[in-house]
Formats: sequence, structure tokens, C-alpha cells
Amino acid sequence: MTAISFTARSIENAAKARTQCTIVPVFTKKSLSAAAAQMDEASGGAVSAALSLGDFSGKRGETHLLPGTGGSKRLLLVGCGDRRKFDREAAREFTRAACRGIGATRARDAVIHTGELQMKDIDADWLLAYLARHLVSATYRYSETLSNTKPAMELNKVVINPGKKGSLRAHQRALDLGRFTGVGINETRDLANMPANICTPTHLAKEARKLARQHEDLSVQVLEEKKMQELGMGALLAVTAGTTQPAKLIIMQYKGGKSGQKPYVLVGKGVTFDTGGISLKPGAKMDEMKYDMAGAASVIGTLRAVVEMGLPLNVTGVIPAVENMPGSRAIKPGDVVTSMSGKTIEILNTDAEGRLILCDALTYVERFKPQVVIDVATLTGACVVALGSHASALYANDEKLAEDLLQAGIESHDRAWRMPLWDDYQQQLKSNFADLPNIAGPGGGSITAACFLSRFTEKYHWAHLDIAGTAWDASPKGATGRPVAMLTRYLMDRAGK
Ligand code: BES
Ligand code: MN
Ligand code: ZN
Repeated sequence: MTAISFTARSIENAAKARTQCTIVPVFTKKSLSAAAAQMDEASGGAVSAALSLGDFSGKRGETHLLPGTGGSKRLLLVGCGDRRKFDREAAREFTRAACRGIGATRARDAVIHTGELQMKDIDADWLLAYLARHLVSATYRYSETLSNTKPAMELNKVVINPGKKGSLRAHQRALDLGRFTGVGINETRDLANMPANICTPTHLAKEARKLARQHEDLSVQVLEEKKMQELGMGALLAVTAGTTQPAKLIIMQYKGGKSGQKPYVLVGKGVTFDTGGISLKPGAKMDEMKYDMAGAASVIGTLRAVVEMGLPLNVTGVIPAVENMPGSRAIKPGDVVTSMSGKTIEILNTDAEGRLILCDALTYVERFKPQVVIDVATLTGACVVALGSHASALYANDEKLAEDLLQAGIESHDRAWRMPLWDDYQQQLKSNFADLPNIAGPGGGSITAACFLSRFTEKYHWAHLDIAGTAWDASPKGATGRPVAMLTRYLMDRAGK
């Protein structure tokens, strides 16, 4: 993966900076930013000419590439719309357009002038973090199993001129935090995009160990099936019964906080491939079930970000990793198993396997005396029907935790929408042959799946994110890295960053 470095630096005259690409904001009504005006003057009026000729108007999201002038080889104009209406959404559009514009060139470095991008609703450092995160994310390209790949862009060095307001140190910190978030997102995308014949439970365990080797404060422990048997994880082991791939329970512990400080626990669904098992899925788009470990990937990516940021918190990641296959030893519809909690479960559909591995992992994490537990899972197709690809579904048994996560989603623009865990839905989970069934009567599939999980999380503050609709894009097919930005933001907020 390519790495970009970011530096915040004050630049008096944009035309004097030596760079392969100068990026300046331009507002509508021929309102140039100071940097754009400096470039205009140095170029003998190239920017004004583009505006007068109508090649470029400065409206939001518009870009225009001109030959460079002074110290820079290229000049990229980015439209920012009405100067007085520049808000968060405009800042996001600026970011997208700048990434697209620079990505279309072979520039290896760039200077971006953000000084005049003053927002009413948010401070400048928010924009710097957002910009860094997106530039890092824009450089991602999957390459693991391709013979010939070029990087998505050549860019590896970015200087930001944030103008005169605020301290350079604070600006630099914002850029660094954004970059770490981007790195975590890319790590998650890479793991999730990997095909299931490579990305097995064993591979996930190996990747977690690799991360721990790079960082003092992170330790990893992997429990094998024998240990899970001793712990009584009958629900998790039921799912892995049909495959020859050994299941793993991966435990990652980051100790950035005081010893004895209760950890924030993240639990990620790690089904490295979901065929449905004996309740076999239909063939169409079944390849996408390699993404059924996207929750696990997001836990690893979030930990990577948090560790690199050095947040003063204790964070524990737990990943139940299995492959869901049909086979002569596979579980069958109607089988009853005993979970680690002691509750018995009637498995009416072997394709509702995520909740089976999660319920044992959620019981296991009680031992960490968690501050909160957040699980992340591509849990239900019904979630995609309900919310599409824009919002993750959020469930919680604690109001503050729900509010904090929703807020982190808004701040990072990686949003969730709260869903109910009402008793009316809980009533749908009834079995004649076990304490509870693994599927519920018609309707509300994402909700009843969350209700199932809620039966195993009564001892702590808990939230569940159903990311079935948000973890990957269908076209062009690829992992999004969600909800790493939300989770990282949530943890940064807890650390007071
Ligand atoms: N991994 C799937 C959920 C899924 C399906 C995510 C499609 C994204 C796209 C999960 O294990 C599953 O199969 N759920 C079933 C539950 C049903 C059997 C109650 C589903 O959603 O169909
Ligand atoms: Mn399934
Ligand atoms: Zn699944």
C-alpha cells in the first residue's frame, strides 16, 4: 500500500511554492481565493481567462486543470460555489473533487491551499482531517491477486497551506489523525476484498498477529477449536462443523490507557465465506459472501488506526472467524446447540450463522469487564432492504452509547440510523425445542437478528452495527472500509481528541 505524507505549512505566495501540482479553491461570481489570485497573477491571467471563457465557473465540485506557472508544474482549480455558503457538505465536495482532480494526473506531490475554506458549522481542522483521510483512501487499489496493477495515483507527498488561522501544530495533528483513519480504512478494504480461498480464518489470525508485531502496545491471542470446546462455545462451533478450515477466535488487546481502565470492546463478524451451509444460498452474487468478514476487517482496521494514533485508551478487538459450508458434518435445520451462555438455540436456518458465532463471542467478552461492547456485522439481507447502502443500522441497549455512535457517524460522514429493540420484536423469537430459535417469524429481519444478539449482552452497555448494506459497493465491486471512520471517530471522542 502506498503511503502519503502530509505537512501543514504556511505559504505566503502560492506561485513561489515548488510542486508538481498546486490546488486552489475558486468560488463562484469570479471570487478567487488569495492563492488562486496569486497563481492568476503569476500566470498572466490564466485563471481569470478560464473563468471569462466559461471553461470553468467555480461551482461546487467542478475542477479545471491548467498548465503550471511559477514553481508548480500544474494548477488545479477546484470549484467551491458561493463563498458565504461554504459548509460541511461543500467541504466534502471540495475533498472529492480535489481527490478526483489530482488522481487524474501523474503528479507525485501537491500543495493544497485551504486557508479560505471557512465553514460556519465546523472548524478548519475537521476539513484537514477529512482531506487527509480521503486522499489516503483515494490512493487505495486492490492488487493482491492481480498480475499487473499500477497504483491508483502517484501522489505520495502533500503540503497543506492552512492559512493564518489556528496553530500549525494543531493543523498537523489533524492531518495525522486523518491519515491514520485513512490507513485503517484501506487495511479494512484490503482484507475484505481478498478472496475467501486466501482470506481464511487462519489468514485473519495471521494478519492480526502481524499487526501486533509492529506495535508494542498491541498483543494478540488466538484461541483454537479445542479451547472453544472447553469454553462451551457450542453455537460458534456449530457453524464451523461443515468446513475443513479451522475456526479461530482472535483477541487483540491494545493497552494505550491506564492499566485497570475498562476497555472499549469491538467484536467483528468474521465469516470468511458464507455459503449458507445446508440452508444453501442461491448462486447469484454468492461471490459477495467473501465480504461476510467485513465486520472483522473493520475491527482490525479500527485497531490499526487507534494504535497508530496512540490513543490513551484500552481497546479490545474480538473476532470469531469461521467459514460457513455445507458438508457431511455440517449442522442441519432443526439441530439444537448449547451456547457458551448456557442458553440452547434451535438452528432453524443454517444461513443465520452470524448471530451464532457472535452470541458466543459476546458472552466471551464479559470477562474483559468492558466499558462498552460494539459488535460489527454483515448480519442480514433485510438490513439492505431497510436502509440501502447509505446508513448502517444501529441497535443499542444504552442511550448514551447510541447517541455517541450516531454523533460519531455524523462527524465522520459514516452514518448510522437507530433501529428498535422493542419487546414486540423480541416476541417473534420463539422455539418449542430450545430457549430460542436462530430466526424469527416474518418481517423485521435485521431487527430480530439484533434482538437475538441482545439476549447475550444483558451484562454490559452494548451496541450492534448491521453493516450488510454499507460494507461494500456492488459496482464497481469493492469494500468501502465502513464503519472504520465512525468507530475511529467514536474512540477519538472518548480519548478527548
Ligand atoms: N451474511 C448474510 C447476510 C447478508 C446477505 C449480508 C446479503 C449482505 C448481503 C447472513 O449470514 C445471512 O445469510 N442472513 C440471512 C438470515 C436469514 C436466514 C434469517 C439473510 O439475511 O437472508
Ligand atoms: Mn448467512
Ligand atoms: Zn453471513
